[in-house]
Amino acid sequence: DRPQGQQPNPSPAVADSAFLRACRREPVPHTPVWFMRQAGRSLPEYRKVREGIAMLDSCMRPDLVAEITLQPVRRHHVDAAIYFSDIVVPLKAIGIDLDIKPGVGPVVEQPFRTRADLDRLRDLTPDDVWYVTEAMGLLTGELGATPLIGFAGAPFTLASYLVEGGPSRNHENTKAMMYGDPQLWADLLDRLADITGTFLQVQIDAGASAVQLFDSWVGALAPADYRASVLPASAKVFERVADRGVPRIHFGVGTGELLGLLGAAGADVVGVDWRVPLDEAARRVGPGKALQGNLDPAVLFSTPEAVAAKADEVLAAAQGLEGHVFNLGHGVPPNTDPDALTRLVEHVHTRSAR
Ligand code: CP3
Repeated sequence: DRPQGQQPNPSPAVADSAFLRACRREPVPHTPVWFMRQAGRSLPEYRKVREGIAMLDSCMRPDLVAEITLQPVRRHHVDAAIYFSDIVVPLKAIGIDLDIKPGVGPVVEQPFRTRADLDRLRDLTPDDVWYVTEAMGLLTGELGATPLIGFAGAPFTLASYLVEGGPSRNHENTKAMMYGDPQLWADLLDRLADITGTFLQVQIDAGASAVQLFDSWVGALAPADYRASVLPASAKVFERVADRGVPRIHFGVGTGELLGLLGAAGADVVGVDWRVPLDEAARRVGPGKALQGNLDPAVLFSTPEAVAAKADEVLAAAQGLEGHVFNLGHGVPPNTDPDALTRLVEHVHTRSAR
């Protein structure tokens, strides 16, 4: 139900990009590459424009969002842009009292622990995130044939921040709710699925030509618990954007045992961290899906020769895949030398040229 007269999303040039072709498992001129967290502290130009502006404030300024999103595209010539924001932005937008503490991450003033806390999660409306629509409008004009990836946090990872009150190693309070009050847990995830589903719809309707659902911390779960207590909510998110027809990417860290289920939740592309080689990941995911990944981000601190050799290993393991988008196995570390990333993009493009 796109408003009439709007440009088709994606435009023909974007639809024909190596990135979207790989997501659709079509032949590509070269393996497309982008990096999770490609915008951010690794770039001096990012640190400069962010000076004196809090993270969440910067996410609500369309001009700044557009500039920061474009920075890694200009510098590294990656095959896709990822919209600059954070997974907690839609929660902030509905009035949850949270902040992003530098060097720590999202912190929630009053953690979610009881049924009464559900009342704090009202539905998201497009007006709540007007700045996303505006920034994406600016970006699709500037990006030309480069696709723009929208994203959101998955219900489990968002719930973990809400229930723990901040970053957590073992997700103990989260699991306490999941096992101790399964109905409250299910209701919490279902509400987060609605918010996330709407947030992704807004992004696609504003010009995102692919979306990635970040379930960064879901690797903390055993497969049976994932299937019973998390998959239904993530499946609902993917279902909410199925009619938009854009590729849906699903990613988490430490998810070797969950790869099949991450695909089954409704993804077109499954993101893989560095612990499972891509050929083995393809066996676990099964046919009909593209894969994204999976160079260990820590490799970027090694010599250029070592980075190239490890990238070649990733490309070799991806040889028989139906579709492959080159990425890191997790985000760019803040202290990465940006030149290492620029060289890596060039290396992957050259090595994979058909
Ligand atoms: O280039 C991009 O990838 C787009 C930007 C992006 C940010 N956050 C910007 C950001 C994306 C995709 C995210 C997603 C996100 N946020 C995830 C999923 C990805 C992942 O890494 O698994 C998660 C778990 C979060 C929560 C979060 N927000 C964390 C853990 C942190 C880091 C805290 C720190 O300071 O080390 C943030 C803050 C954040 N989000 C920063 C950026 C650039 C750093 C804050 C700053 O620059 O001031």
